[in-house]
Amino acid sequence: MQSDLLRRYAAPVPRYTSYPTAPHFSPAVDAATYGRWLDEMENDLPLSLYVHIPFCNELCWYCGCSTKITRQREPIARYLSALSREIDTVADRIKIRHAVTHIHWGGGSPSILEPNEIRALAAQLKTRFKLSPSAEFAVEIDPRGLDEARIAAFADSGVNRVSIGVQDFDLAVQKAINRMQSVEQTAWVVDTFRKHGIEAINIDLVYGLPKQTLETLDQTMDHVLALAPDRIALFGYAHLPARIKHQRLIPDDTLPDTAARFAQANRAAERLTEGGFVTIGLDHYARPHDPLASGTVRRNFQGYTTDTAAALIGLGASSIGRLPQGYVQNTPAIGEYERRVLDGGLATVRGHAMSTEDAARGLVIERLMCDFAFPADELRARFGEVAEPIIAEAEALCAADRDEMVAARTRGEGFEVTDKGRIFVRSICAKFDAYLGKSSAQHSAGI
Ligand SMILES: C[S@@+](CC[C@H](N)C(=O)[O-])C[C@H]1O[C@@H](n2cnc3c(N)ncnc32)[C@H](O)[C@@H]1O
Ligand code: SF4
Repeated sequence: MQSDLLRRYAAPVPRYTSYPTAPHFSPAVDAATYGRWLDEMENDLPLSLYVHIPFCNELCWYCGCSTKITRQREPIARYLSALSREIDTVADRIKIRHAVTHIHWGGGSPSILEPNEIRALAAQLKTRFKLSPSAEFAVEIDPRGLDEARIAAFADSGVNRVSIGVQDFDLAVQKAINRMQSVEQTAWVVDTFRKHGIEAINIDLVYGLPKQTLETLDQTMDHVLALAPDRIALFGYAHLPARIKHQRLIPDDTLPDTAARFAQANRAAERLTEGGFVTIGLDHYARPHDPLASGTVRRNFQGYTTDTAAALIGLGASSIGRLPQGYVQNTPAIGEYERRVLDGGLATVRGHAMSTEDAARGLVIERLMCDFAFPADELRARFGEVAEPIIAEAEALCAADRDEMVAARTRGEGFEVTDKGRIFVRSICAKFDAYLGKSSAQHSAGI
Protein backbone atom coordinates (compact mmCIF):
# COMPACT_ATOMS: atom_id res chain seq x y z
CA MET A 1 0.00 0.00 0.00
CA GLN A 2 2.73 2.44 1.04
CA SER A 3 4.89 1.59 -1.98
CA ASP A 4 1.89 2.10 -4.25
CA LEU A 5 1.26 5.55 -2.72
CA LEU A 6 4.94 6.47 -3.02
CA ARG A 7 4.98 5.43 -6.67
CA ARG A 8 1.97 7.60 -7.45
CA TYR A 9 2.65 10.66 -5.29
CA ALA A 10 6.43 10.90 -5.00
CA ALA A 11 7.03 11.72 -8.69
CA PRO A 12 9.29 14.77 -9.22
CA VAL A 13 7.46 18.06 -8.59
CA PRO A 14 8.55 21.66 -7.89
CA ARG A 15 9.30 22.83 -4.33
CA TYR A 16 6.88 25.72 -4.85
CA THR A 17 8.93 28.51 -3.35
CA SER A 18 7.13 30.72 -5.91
CA TYR A 19 4.27 30.45 -8.41
CA PRO A 20 4.93 30.32 -11.29
CA THR A 21 8.17 28.54 -10.44
CA ALA A 22 11.48 30.00 -11.69
CA PRO A 23 11.84 27.68 -14.76
CA HIS A 24 8.77 29.48 -16.19
CA PHE A 25 10.33 32.94 -15.96
CA SER A 26 11.07 34.43 -19.38
CA PRO A 27 13.39 37.06 -20.90
CA ALA A 28 10.28 39.12 -21.77
CA VAL A 29 10.74 40.68 -18.32
CA ASP A 30 14.02 42.58 -18.53
CA ALA A 31 15.85 45.47 -16.85
CA ALA A 32 13.52 48.03 -18.51
CA THR A 33 10.44 46.22 -17.12
CA TYR A 34 11.99 46.04 -13.65
CA GLY A 35 12.86 49.75 -13.74
CA ARG A 36 9.25 50.58 -14.66
CA TRP A 37 7.89 48.34 -11.91
CA LEU A 38 10.16 50.04 -9.36
CA ASP A 39 8.98 53.48 -10.57
CA GLU A 40 5.36 52.41 -10.13
CA MET A 41 5.75 51.18 -6.54
CA GLU A 42 2.95 52.45 -4.31
CA ASN A 43 3.50 54.50 -1.17
CA ASP A 44 4.14 52.78 2.14
CA LEU A 45 4.70 49.30 0.78
CA PRO A 46 6.61 47.27 3.38
CA LEU A 47 9.76 45.93 1.75
CA SER A 48 11.98 42.99 2.29
CA LEU A 49 15.58 42.83 0.98
CA TYR A 50 17.37 39.69 -0.19
CA VAL A 51 21.14 39.97 -0.78
CA HIS A 52 22.97 37.12 -2.53
CA ILE A 53 26.63 36.37 -1.78
CA PRO A 54 27.64 33.75 -4.37
CA PHE A 55 30.94 32.52 -2.88
CA CYS A 56 32.07 29.58 -0.74
CA ASN A 57 35.43 28.24 0.43
CA GLU A 58 34.80 24.65 -0.64
CA LEU A 59 32.28 22.79 -2.78
CA CYS A 60 29.72 20.55 -1.06
CA TRP A 61 28.90 17.94 -3.68
CA TYR A 62 25.14 17.97 -3.00
CA CYS A 63 24.90 21.75 -3.33
CA GLY A 64 22.07 23.13 -5.44
CA CYS A 65 22.70 26.80 -4.58
CA SER A 66 24.06 29.46 -6.94
CA THR A 67 27.66 29.76 -5.77
CA LYS A 68 31.30 29.84 -6.87
CA ILE A 69 34.27 28.38 -5.01
CA THR A 70 37.13 30.77 -4.34
CA ARG A 71 40.09 30.99 -1.98
CA GLN A 72 40.94 34.53 -3.09
CA ARG A 73 39.69 37.82 -1.69
CA GLU A 74 39.89 39.81 -4.94
CA PRO A 75 36.79 38.32 -6.71
CA ILE A 76 34.77 38.86 -3.53
CA ALA A 77 35.92 42.48 -3.19
CA ARG A 78 35.10 43.12 -6.89
CA TYR A 79 31.65 41.60 -6.44
CA LEU A 80 31.00 43.70 -3.32
CA SER A 81 31.81 46.90 -5.26
CA ALA A 82 29.28 45.90 -7.90
CA LEU A 83 26.71 44.98 -5.23
CA SER A 84 27.18 48.37 -3.62
CA ARG A 85 26.53 50.03 -6.97
CA GLU A 86 23.35 47.96 -7.49
CA ILE A 87 22.09 48.92 -4.01
CA ASP A 88 22.54 52.61 -4.93
CA THR A 89 20.86 52.21 -8.34
CA VAL A 90 17.82 50.43 -6.87
CA ALA A 91 17.54 52.76 -3.84
CA ASP A 92 17.73 55.83 -6.14
CA ARG A 93 14.99 54.38 -8.31
CA ILE A 94 12.61 53.75 -5.38
CA LYS A 95 11.65 57.30 -4.62
CA ILE A 96 9.72 56.63 -1.43
CA ARG A 97 11.57 55.38 1.65
CA HIS A 98 9.43 52.30 2.31
CA ALA A 99 9.92 50.58 5.68
CA VAL A 100 12.10 47.48 5.38
CA THR A 101 10.73 44.73 7.63
CA HIS A 102 13.09 41.89 6.65
CA ILE A 103 16.67 41.60 5.46
CA HIS A 104 18.09 38.23 4.41
CA TRP A 105 21.64 37.57 3.25
CA GLY A 106 21.87 34.21 1.50
CA GLY A 107 24.24 32.36 -0.73
CA GLY A 108 26.62 30.79 -1.18
CA SER A 109 28.04 31.71 2.19
CA PRO A 110 27.67 35.31 3.42
CA SER A 111 29.92 34.22 6.33
CA ILE A 112 32.86 34.21 3.85
CA LEU A 113 32.90 38.05 4.05
CA GLU A 114 35.58 39.80 6.12
CA PRO A 115 34.37 41.72 9.23
CA ASN A 116 34.90 45.11 7.52
CA GLU A 117 32.97 43.90 4.44
CA ILE A 118 30.07 42.70 6.64
CA ARG A 119 29.93 46.07 8.43
CA ALA A 120 30.14 48.13 5.21
CA LEU A 121 27.38 46.16 3.43
CA ALA A 122 25.03 46.31 6.44
CA ALA A 123 25.74 50.04 6.91
CA GLN A 124 24.96 50.82 3.26
CA LEU A 125 21.64 48.93 3.40
CA LYS A 126 20.67 50.84 6.54
CA THR A 127 21.62 54.20 5.02
CA ARG A 128 19.91 53.65 1.68
CA PHE A 129 16.75 51.96 2.99
CA LYS A 130 14.59 52.78 6.02
CA LEU A 131 14.88 49.86 8.39
CA SER A 132 11.84 49.23 10.59
CA PRO A 133 12.92 49.10 14.29
CA SER A 134 11.49 45.58 14.63
CA ALA A 135 13.02 44.32 11.36
CA GLU A 136 14.36 40.79 11.19
CA PHE A 137 17.92 40.70 9.84
CA ALA A 138 18.87 37.11 9.02
CA VAL A 139 22.09 35.68 7.56
CA GLU A 140 23.01 32.21 6.24
CA ILE A 141 26.16 30.90 7.90
CA ASP A 142 28.63 28.17 7.00
CA PRO A 143 30.09 27.43 10.48
CA ARG A 144 33.25 25.73 9.19
CA GLY A 145 36.23 27.91 10.04
CA LEU A 146 34.05 30.81 11.22
CA ASP A 147 35.92 33.09 13.65
CA GLU A 148 34.74 35.34 16.48
CA ALA A 149 35.66 38.55 14.62
CA ARG A 150 33.06 37.76 11.92
CA ILE A 151 30.45 36.76 14.52
CA ALA A 152 31.06 40.09 16.31
CA ALA A 153 30.74 41.96 12.99
CA PHE A 154 27.36 40.32 12.30
CA ALA A 155 26.19 41.11 15.83
CA ASP A 156 27.18 44.76 15.79
CA SER A 157 25.73 45.21 12.29
CA GLY A 158 22.28 44.39 13.72
CA VAL A 159 21.91 40.75 12.57
CA ASN A 160 19.33 39.10 14.85
CA ARG A 161 18.83 35.64 13.29
CA VAL A 162 21.32 33.20 11.77
CA SER A 163 20.71 30.02 9.71
CA ILE A 164 23.56 27.62 10.26
CA GLY A 165 24.22 24.88 7.69
CA VAL A 166 24.69 21.44 9.27
CA GLN A 167 23.06 18.88 6.90
CA ASP A 168 24.32 15.76 8.78
CA PHE A 169 26.91 15.07 11.50
CA ASP A 170 27.73 11.49 10.46
CA LEU A 171 31.32 11.06 9.27
CA ALA A 172 30.50 8.66 6.40
CA VAL A 173 27.76 10.98 5.14
CA GLN A 174 30.06 14.01 5.46
CA LYS A 175 32.76 12.23 3.40
CA ALA A 176 30.19 11.27 0.75
CA ILE A 177 29.08 14.92 0.38
CA ASN A 178 32.53 16.52 0.80
CA ARG A 179 31.53 18.51 3.84
CA MET A 180 33.53 17.78 6.99
CA GLN A 181 32.02 19.60 9.94
CA SER A 182 32.44 18.65 13.58
CA VAL A 183 29.78 18.85 16.28
CA GLU A 184 32.32 20.77 18.43
CA GLN A 185 32.95 23.51 15.84
CA THR A 186 29.21 23.87 15.18
CA ALA A 187 28.43 24.07 18.93
CA TRP A 188 31.15 26.72 19.38
CA VAL A 189 29.58 28.82 16.58
CA VAL A 190 26.08 28.50 18.09
CA ASP A 191 27.38 29.43 21.58
CA THR A 192 29.43 32.35 20.27
CA PHE A 193 26.48 33.83 18.35
CA ARG A 194 24.46 33.57 21.58
CA LYS A 195 27.29 35.16 23.56
CA HIS A 196 27.21 38.10 21.12
CA GLY A 197 23.45 38.51 21.60
CA ILE A 198 22.17 36.71 18.48
CA GLU A 199 19.67 34.37 20.12
CA ALA A 200 17.55 33.30 17.14
CA ILE A 201 19.33 30.26 15.74
CA ASN A 202 18.12 28.21 12.76
CA ILE A 203 19.75 24.97 11.66
CA ASP A 204 19.55 23.49 8.13
CA LEU A 205 19.44 19.71 7.81
CA VAL A 206 19.07 17.51 4.75
CA TYR A 207 17.66 13.99 4.48
CA GLY A 208 18.04 11.67 1.48
CA LEU A 209 21.84 12.23 1.39
CA PRO A 210 24.30 9.49 0.34
CA LYS A 211 25.07 6.93 3.07
CA GLN A 212 22.32 8.34 5.31
CA THR A 213 20.35 5.78 7.32
CA LEU A 214 17.78 6.00 10.10
CA GLU A 215 20.63 5.35 12.57
CA THR A 216 22.84 8.18 11.27
CA LEU A 217 19.82 10.47 11.21
CA ASP A 218 18.98 9.59 14.84
CA GLN A 219 22.53 10.42 15.94
CA THR A 220 22.46 13.71 14.02
CA MET A 221 19.12 14.53 15.67
CA ASP A 222 20.64 13.87 19.15
CA HIS A 223 23.40 16.41 18.45
CA VAL A 224 21.05 18.94 16.85
CA LEU A 225 18.54 18.79 19.72
CA ALA A 226 21.40 19.35 22.17
CA LEU A 227 22.26 22.59 20.33
CA ALA A 228 18.67 23.74 21.11
CA PRO A 229 18.02 25.78 17.95
CA ASP A 230 14.83 27.85 17.58
CA ARG A 231 14.06 26.62 14.07
CA ILE A 232 15.07 23.71 11.90
CA ALA A 233 14.72 23.45 8.13
CA LEU A 234 14.78 19.81 7.04
CA PHE A 235 15.19 19.70 3.26
CA GLY A 236 14.83 16.57 1.15
CA TYR A 237 18.03 16.25 -0.91
CA ALA A 238 17.30 17.46 -4.48
CA HIS A 239 19.55 15.27 -6.66
CA LEU A 240 19.59 16.63 -10.22
CA PRO A 241 22.90 15.42 -11.69
CA ALA A 242 21.77 16.06 -15.28
CA ARG A 243 21.57 19.80 -14.51
CA ILE A 244 24.03 20.19 -11.59
CA LYS A 245 27.27 18.58 -12.82
CA HIS A 246 29.10 18.36 -9.47
CA GLN A 247 26.26 16.22 -8.06
CA ARG A 248 27.61 13.46 -10.36
CA LEU A 249 30.33 13.06 -7.72
CA ILE A 250 27.58 11.42 -5.64
CA PRO A 251 26.95 7.96 -7.15
CA ASP A 252 23.23 7.14 -7.48
CA ASP A 253 23.73 3.80 -5.72
CA THR A 254 24.82 5.52 -2.49
CA LEU A 255 21.51 7.37 -2.23
CA PRO A 256 18.55 6.17 -0.13
CA ASP A 257 15.58 5.12 -2.28
CA THR A 258 12.12 6.72 -2.11
CA ALA A 259 10.91 4.40 0.68
CA ALA A 260 14.04 5.14 2.73
CA ARG A 261 13.63 8.92 2.15
CA PHE A 262 10.00 8.62 3.29
CA ALA A 263 11.10 6.79 6.46
CA GLN A 264 13.84 9.38 7.12
CA ALA A 265 11.47 12.35 6.73
CA ASN A 266 9.00 10.66 9.10
CA ARG A 267 11.65 9.73 11.68
CA ALA A 268 13.09 13.25 11.69
CA ALA A 269 9.58 14.72 12.09
CA GLU A 270 8.90 12.36 15.02
CA ARG A 271 12.17 13.23 16.76
CA LEU A 272 11.60 16.96 16.35
CA THR A 273 8.00 16.96 17.53
CA GLU A 274 8.98 14.78 20.53
CA GLY A 275 11.75 17.33 21.15
CA GLY A 276 9.17 20.12 21.52
CA PHE A 277 9.15 21.58 17.99
CA VAL A 278 5.98 22.66 16.18
CA THR A 279 5.75 21.51 12.55
CA ILE A 280 5.60 24.38 10.05
CA GLY A 281 4.37 23.47 6.58
CA LEU A 282 6.16 20.65 4.84
CA ASP A 283 9.70 20.77 6.18
CA HIS A 284 10.27 23.43 8.86
CA TYR A 285 10.10 23.06 12.63
CA ALA A 286 10.01 25.84 15.24
CA ARG A 287 10.00 26.11 19.02
CA PRO A 288 6.62 27.33 20.32
CA HIS A 289 8.12 30.74 21.29
CA ASP A 290 9.49 31.34 17.78
CA PRO A 291 7.46 33.79 15.60
CA LEU A 292 7.17 31.13 12.89
CA ALA A 293 5.11 28.98 15.31
CA SER A 294 2.78 31.76 16.41
CA GLY A 295 2.34 34.19 13.49
CA THR A 296 1.36 34.16 9.82
CA VAL A 297 3.50 31.76 7.82
CA ARG A 298 4.42 32.66 4.24
CA ARG A 299 6.47 30.85 1.64
CA ASN A 300 9.30 32.47 -0.27
CA PHE A 301 12.59 31.51 -1.93
CA GLN A 302 14.19 30.80 1.46
CA GLY A 303 11.39 28.37 2.41
CA TYR A 304 8.92 29.20 5.21
CA THR A 305 9.11 32.69 6.66
CA THR A 306 7.26 35.27 8.77
CA ASP A 307 8.05 37.88 6.10
CA THR A 308 4.72 39.39 4.99
CA ALA A 309 6.20 42.36 3.07
CA ALA A 310 4.35 43.18 -0.15
CA ALA A 311 7.58 43.47 -2.15
CA LEU A 312 10.89 41.65 -2.03
CA ILE A 313 13.89 43.39 -3.59
CA GLY A 314 16.55 40.92 -4.77
CA LEU A 315 20.14 42.21 -4.86
CA GLY A 316 23.18 40.39 -6.21
CA ALA A 317 23.84 37.83 -8.96
CA SER A 318 21.00 35.30 -9.47
CA SER A 319 18.78 36.94 -6.85
CA ILE A 320 15.02 36.86 -7.39
CA GLY A 321 12.74 39.74 -6.44
CA ARG A 322 8.96 39.83 -6.17
CA LEU A 323 7.03 43.04 -6.75
CA PRO A 324 3.22 43.30 -6.85
CA GLN A 325 3.55 43.26 -10.68
CA GLY A 326 5.59 40.05 -10.87
CA TYR A 327 8.94 38.33 -10.43
CA VAL A 328 12.38 39.52 -11.60
CA GLN A 329 15.66 37.63 -11.61
CA ASN A 330 19.20 38.97 -11.96
CA THR A 331 21.70 37.22 -14.19
CA PRO A 332 23.45 34.38 -12.32
CA ALA A 333 26.71 35.02 -14.25
CA ILE A 334 28.90 37.01 -11.84
CA GLY A 335 30.96 38.74 -14.58
CA GLU A 336 27.85 39.81 -16.51
CA TYR A 337 26.18 40.95 -13.27
CA GLU A 338 29.20 43.12 -12.42
CA ARG A 339 29.38 44.65 -15.91
CA ARG A 340 25.70 45.50 -15.98
CA VAL A 341 25.47 47.11 -12.57
CA LEU A 342 28.83 48.92 -12.83
CA ASP A 343 27.47 50.48 -16.05
CA GLY A 344 24.74 51.97 -13.85
CA GLY A 345 22.04 49.56 -15.05
CA LEU A 346 19.92 46.81 -13.52
CA ALA A 347 20.96 43.17 -13.98
CA THR A 348 17.51 41.66 -14.62
CA VAL A 349 17.54 38.96 -17.29
CA ARG A 350 14.22 37.21 -16.76
CA GLY A 351 11.03 37.26 -14.80
CA HIS A 352 7.30 36.89 -14.99
CA ALA A 353 4.48 39.46 -15.14
CA MET A 354 1.68 38.15 -12.92
CA SER A 355 -1.80 37.74 -14.40
CA THR A 356 -4.83 37.70 -12.08
CA GLU A 357 -5.07 33.95 -12.60
CA ASP A 358 -1.38 33.53 -11.66
CA ALA A 359 -1.99 35.47 -8.44
CA ALA A 360 -5.08 33.35 -7.63
CA ARG A 361 -3.28 30.04 -8.28
CA GLY A 362 -0.26 31.37 -6.39
CA LEU A 363 -2.46 32.04 -3.34
CA VAL A 364 -3.88 28.48 -3.47
CA ILE A 365 -0.42 26.92 -3.73
CA GLU A 366 1.09 29.11 -1.01
CA ARG A 367 -1.77 28.41 1.45
CA LEU A 368 -1.67 24.65 0.70
CA MET A 369 2.10 24.65 1.32
CA CYS A 370 1.71 26.68 4.56
CA ASP A 371 -1.68 25.67 6.08
CA PHE A 372 -2.55 22.43 4.22
CA ALA A 373 -5.94 23.99 3.44
CA PHE A 374 -7.55 25.22 0.22
CA PRO A 375 -8.37 28.93 0.84
CA ALA A 376 -11.83 29.07 -0.84
CA ASP A 377 -13.12 32.12 1.08
CA GLU A 378 -10.01 34.25 0.57
CA LEU A 379 -9.85 33.19 -3.08
CA ARG A 380 -13.44 34.32 -3.72
CA ALA A 381 -13.02 37.54 -1.73
CA ARG A 382 -9.85 38.55 -3.57
CA PHE A 383 -10.39 37.20 -7.06
CA GLY A 384 -14.18 37.03 -7.66
CA GLU A 385 -15.01 35.21 -10.90
CA VAL A 386 -11.41 34.15 -11.52
CA ALA A 387 -11.71 32.01 -8.35
CA GLU A 388 -14.64 29.87 -9.53
CA PRO A 389 -12.88 27.57 -12.07
CA ILE A 390 -10.08 26.98 -9.53
CA ILE A 391 -12.64 26.08 -6.85
CA ALA A 392 -14.22 23.69 -9.39
CA GLU A 393 -10.77 22.06 -9.83
CA ALA A 394 -10.65 21.59 -6.05
CA GLU A 395 -14.08 19.88 -6.16
CA ALA A 396 -12.89 17.58 -8.95
CA LEU A 397 -9.75 16.73 -6.97
CA CYS A 398 -11.85 15.79 -3.92
CA ALA A 399 -14.20 13.68 -6.07
CA ALA A 400 -11.29 11.79 -7.65
CA ASP A 401 -9.41 11.22 -4.35
CA ARG A 402 -9.33 7.48 -3.60
CA ASP A 403 -6.36 7.68 -1.23
CA GLU A 404 -7.67 9.95 1.55
CA MET A 405 -5.13 12.62 0.64
CA VAL A 406 -7.73 15.36 1.15
CA ALA A 407 -10.85 15.84 3.31
CA ALA A 408 -13.56 17.72 1.40
CA ARG A 409 -15.35 20.54 3.20
CA THR A 410 -18.95 21.55 2.44
CA ARG A 411 -19.51 21.83 -1.32
CA GLY A 412 -17.76 24.87 -2.79
CA GLU A 413 -15.55 25.35 0.29
CA GLY A 414 -12.55 23.36 -0.89
CA PHE A 415 -10.69 20.86 1.28
CA GLU A 416 -8.05 20.22 3.87
CA VAL A 417 -5.02 18.03 3.26
CA THR A 418 -5.22 14.99 5.57
CA ASP A 419 -2.36 13.95 7.88
CA LYS A 420 -1.65 11.15 5.41
CA GLY A 421 -1.55 13.61 2.49
CA ARG A 422 0.71 16.22 4.14
CA ILE A 423 4.01 14.72 3.05
CA PHE A 424 2.70 14.69 -0.55
CA VAL A 425 1.43 18.30 -0.45
CA ARG A 426 3.73 19.37 -3.32
CA SER A 427 1.99 16.81 -5.56
CA ILE A 428 -1.39 18.22 -4.47
CA CYS A 429 -0.16 21.77 -5.26
CA ALA A 430 0.95 20.53 -8.68
CA LYS A 431 -2.73 19.87 -9.55
CA PHE A 432 -3.29 23.67 -9.43
CA ASP A 433 -0.13 24.53 -11.39
CA ALA A 434 -1.21 25.69 -14.87
CA TYR A 435 2.43 25.80 -16.09
CA LEU A 436 3.59 22.33 -15.05
CA GLY A 437 4.83 20.35 -18.03
CA LYS A 438 5.18 23.49 -20.16
CA SER A 439 8.95 23.63 -19.70
CA SER A 440 11.71 21.04 -19.76
CA ALA A 441 12.59 21.88 -16.13
CA GLN A 442 13.70 18.98 -13.97
CA HIS A 443 12.26 18.75 -10.50
CA SER A 444 13.42 16.93 -7.42
CA ALA A 445 11.73 13.87 -5.91
CA GLY A 446 8.24 14.51 -4.52
CA ILE A 447 9.40 13.20 -1.08
C1 LIG B 1 23.20 28.59 1.06
S1 LIG B 1 23.20 27.12 1.98
C2 LIG B 1 23.38 27.59 3.68
C3 LIG B 1 24.58 28.35 4.15
C4 LIG B 1 25.97 27.80 3.90
N1 LIG B 1 26.30 27.96 2.53
C5 LIG B 1 26.11 26.38 4.33
O1 LIG B 1 25.97 25.49 3.50
O2 LIG B 1 26.39 26.16 5.51
C6 LIG B 1 21.49 26.78 1.97
C7 LIG B 1 20.99 25.42 2.39
O3 LIG B 1 20.37 24.78 1.28
C8 LIG B 1 20.33 23.40 1.50
N2 LIG B 1 20.70 22.72 0.24
C9 LIG B 1 21.72 23.01 -0.58
N3 LIG B 1 21.73 22.18 -1.64
C10 LIG B 1 20.66 21.35 -1.49
C11 LIG B 1 20.12 20.31 -2.28
N4 LIG B 1 20.67 19.91 -3.43
N5 LIG B 1 19.00 19.69 -1.83
C12 LIG B 1 18.40 20.08 -0.66
N6 LIG B 1 18.88 21.08 0.11
C13 LIG B 1 19.99 21.71 -0.29
C14 LIG B 1 21.30 23.09 2.63
O4 LIG B 1 20.58 22.70 3.77
C15 LIG B 1 21.99 24.41 2.86
O5 LIG B 1 22.30 24.60 4.21
S1 SF4 C 1 25.91 24.00 0.72
FE1 SF4 C 1 26.49 26.05 1.41
S2 SF4 C 1 28.71 25.90 1.81
FE2 SF4 C 1 28.20 24.12 0.62
S3 SF4 C 1 28.69 24.75 -1.49
FE3 SF4 C 1 26.47 25.10 -1.14
S4 SF4 C 1 26.28 27.19 -0.52
FE4 SF4 C 1 28.45 26.62 -0.29
